[in-house]
Amino acid sequence: MATHFDLLIRGGTCMLPWGAAETDVGVRDGRIAAIGPAGSATATAEIVATGLHVLPGLIDPHVHLRDPGDASIESIPTGTKAAVLGGLTAVFDMPNTSPSIVNAETLAWKQGYAAREAWCDMGLYVGGTKTNIPDLASLEVAAGVCAVKVFAGSSTGDLMVEDDEHLERIMRAGQRRIAYHSEDEYRLQARKPNYKSGDPYRFHMEWRDEECAFLGTRRLMALARRTGRPAHILHVSTWQELDYLRDYRDIATVEVLVNHLTQFAPDVYDTLKGFGVMNPPIRGREHYEAAWAAIANGTVDTIGSDHAPHPKAAKLKPWPDCPAGLTGVQTLVPVMLDHVNAGRLSLARMVDLMAAGPARIYGALNKGRIVAGYDADFTLVDLKKQRRITNDWIVTPAGWTPFDGMQVTGWPVGTIIRGQQVMRDDEVLGTPTGKLVAFR
Ligand code: DOR
Ligand code: ZN
Repeated sequence: MATHFDLLIRGGTCMLPWGAAETDVGVRDGRIAAIGPAGSATATAEIVATGLHVLPGLIDPHVHLRDPGDASIESIPTGTKAAVLGGLTAVFDMPNTSPSIVNAETLAWKQGYAAREAWCDMGLYVGGTKTNIPDLASLEVAAGVCAVKVFAGSSTGDLMVEDDEHLERIMRAGQRRIAYHSEDEYRLQARKPNYKSGDPYRFHMEWRDEECAFLGTRRLMALARRTGRPAHILHVSTWQELDYLRDYRDIATVEVLVNHLTQFAPDVYDTLKGFGVMNPPIRGREHYEAAWAAIANGTVDTIGSDHAPHPKAAKLKPWPDCPAGLTGVQTLVPVMLDHVNAGRLSLARMVDLMAAGPARIYGALNKGRIVAGYDADFTLVDLKKQRRITNDWIVTPAGWTPFDGMQVTGWPVGTIIRGQQVMRDDEVLGTPTGKLVAFR
């Protein structure tokens, strides 16, 4: 290995694309310069990673950085600080923030803000709406944009495209993969009058039932086939969709949320009440099991947290007045590592879902793999470390997590972004140096 590096990570077990290897990694100018025994090579900074796993920088491709109180001004610094504490090197931020990201002006606002204030690298979604269709082709190729996001069913915010005519026009208005919130809005609205304020929290999954999600996905797949426009179905939550989407792999990729892999009804509503309410809902055990089967058989491409930090006071309201959405950007990696330790997936599959997967699906350049020339983004993991996730560890102002009290095995102990260590042992280092991710 060549002589001098900016950073040398010695002695860790590196999760290379072709397998795990106990080896060293040399970094120069923010990029991976060498992989192999470092021998007598020197470096400006060294990390001794003996006993640790060195993963390619893990990505959360589904966050809503929109903190309580002030919708936006504080949320990029706090949300991305939570991300690096949780072992993430990049997050992709949804457009239903305040302001919504739907045109060149609002996009420029978020691009600038991300470049100045983010602790980790960021990708930005642009919202597709009924009124910005002519602009989408240029918006989707703007700096840092990971995808157009379409809310085909209502959730937080006012971005919504419920009808086939507008959905088809959006699909015909560009090239890149579109990310969808898939719940059929007509069915949601038709069922709403069946429920009243104060009904049990578990009625959330009866109102937004399996058919809402499945029907939404069937409609989107018909349009995607017709138009040839690639689709990424976010937070797939039913066994029916997971089964069905296997016949659409030519056109569709699949995200599953960590919540749908960790919690199920009715337990989640009995114990968490409003703090378990999200869209699409956490459902019964058969869906949880189907999600794990889809992880095992390869149907799932990416895993996200859907971090959506609603204030505690709002989540304490009776159903359905409590807003839908759970915090998650800080807990995603610890909870997934615990699943690895429990034998539910391999560490290699976790890396595939959380680094290589998002890079491939969204076309992120130079991210997601430990290979020479790629960005030197790493998540250092202690697979044996045991800890309890608690609300007081959460740094976003919401200050709560649906995983409060969960004992986990496996913890991120270092976050390195483009060769710079930004988190070590629960401590954030330096100043925010996040950049916009470059996409194909
Ligand atoms: O539960 C959710 N909350 N699901 C979404 O799709 C949006 C999110 C939010 O923005 O609050
Ligand atoms: Zn979301």
